[in-house]
Amino acid sequence: MRDAATQFYDFAEYRREADAFGGMEEKRPSVVLIGEKVAPDGGFAFLRRLRQSALADLPVIFLAGPSGLPPPEATVGEAAILIVTEPFSRTGLIKAVAALINDDVRRGWRALPKIQRQVLDDTLAAFNHVATLIETGRPVDYGPVEAACRSVVDAVGNRQFCGLLRAVKAHDDYSFSHSLRVGTLLSLFGHTIGLSSGDQLLMASGGLLHDLGKIAIPPAVLNKPGRLTDREMAVMQGHVEVTAQILKRGTRIPKGVITIAANHHEKLDGSGYPNGLAAPQLDELARMSAIVDVFSAMTDRRPYKPEMTAEQAFRLIVDTMGRQLDMHLLALFREVLLDAVRSDPDDGARRGTA
Ligand SMILES: [Fe+2]
Ligand SMILES: [Fe+2]
Repeated sequence: MRDAATQFYDFAEYRREADAFGGMEEKRPSVVLIGEKVAPDGGFAFLRRLRQSALADLPVIFLAGPSGLPPPEATVGEAAILIVTEPFSRTGLIKAVAALINDDVRRGWRALPKIQRQVLDDTLAAFNHVATLIETGRPVDYGPVEAACRSVVDAVGNRQFCGLLRAVKAHDDYSFSHSLRVGTLLSLFGHTIGLSSGDQLLMASGGLLHDLGKIAIPPAVLNKPGRLTDREMAVMQGHVEVTAQILKRGTRIPKGVITIAANHHEKLDGSGYPNGLAAPQLDELARMSAIVDVFSAMTDRRPYKPEMTAEQAFRLIVDTMGRQLDMHLLALFREVLLDAVRSDPDDGARRGTA
């Protein structure tokens, strides 16, 4: 369990109840996993006391071993509990943790302004729908994606995107979180340079779909914190062609959406992939996608790296990617984004995150 969890989450392990309460009060966890052997009185007693404490509302996964299920009075109440029975599977446990975190995240979304909540609910449903289509070998249908992304364009037009960009970071499906952030930022880019709402819709949809091919990549490669081996790198970079194939087989997918997916890792100096295209072959859409993808990856929340602010990300891009990205477009994007972050009432200059 420790091995599985530390790959994706900050994980703290306690053998004694008092240590666990102390640790959790210091740093409130998103989910508590309880085994049977907590000292001094075992997991059932610990669960009962947790439910009577100030941490009563934490979601719990109870790892039920030979002693069986926890007593009913320890599992009632408002807070979520999932009971996982032996033999424990690695993927089963990770899925249970992700499900509880995401329930909690979605409950948090209810407190957001309606326009932001709508984007998050609509695009999550569309994204999961598309993922199911891919997993079951059916063509991706553009209709539901386009419908969901209308609310992204609305939110951008109403300057509600900062809260949205932050809210989706907490979601435990990194692919969804990154894709919606790219879609929102692309729509903002389109809005900034004066494109029509139809084009902005295409850009939002392209962002939501741009990394679909990653669905087939094993999580151990996708979330690997360190350097990838050559083989893992090839699998990772292969997501661009897989995505392009999925979209070309899809129903009614606009050409612009395929351009975003196919070219978002291409660089002006020819150093990108999969085709090593260079400046003359990269149109504005491809250039904007490359900027937004890099910026989003830098400012996304990842378990293995500290979060970068928007300013830090722009500085790093200007310092290291001057030949790879379109600096004129970057300057436009930077100005509008930093302006928005600074004037965001919920965040602003305090932290400068987006
Ligand atoms: Fe990508
Ligand atoms: Fe991406």
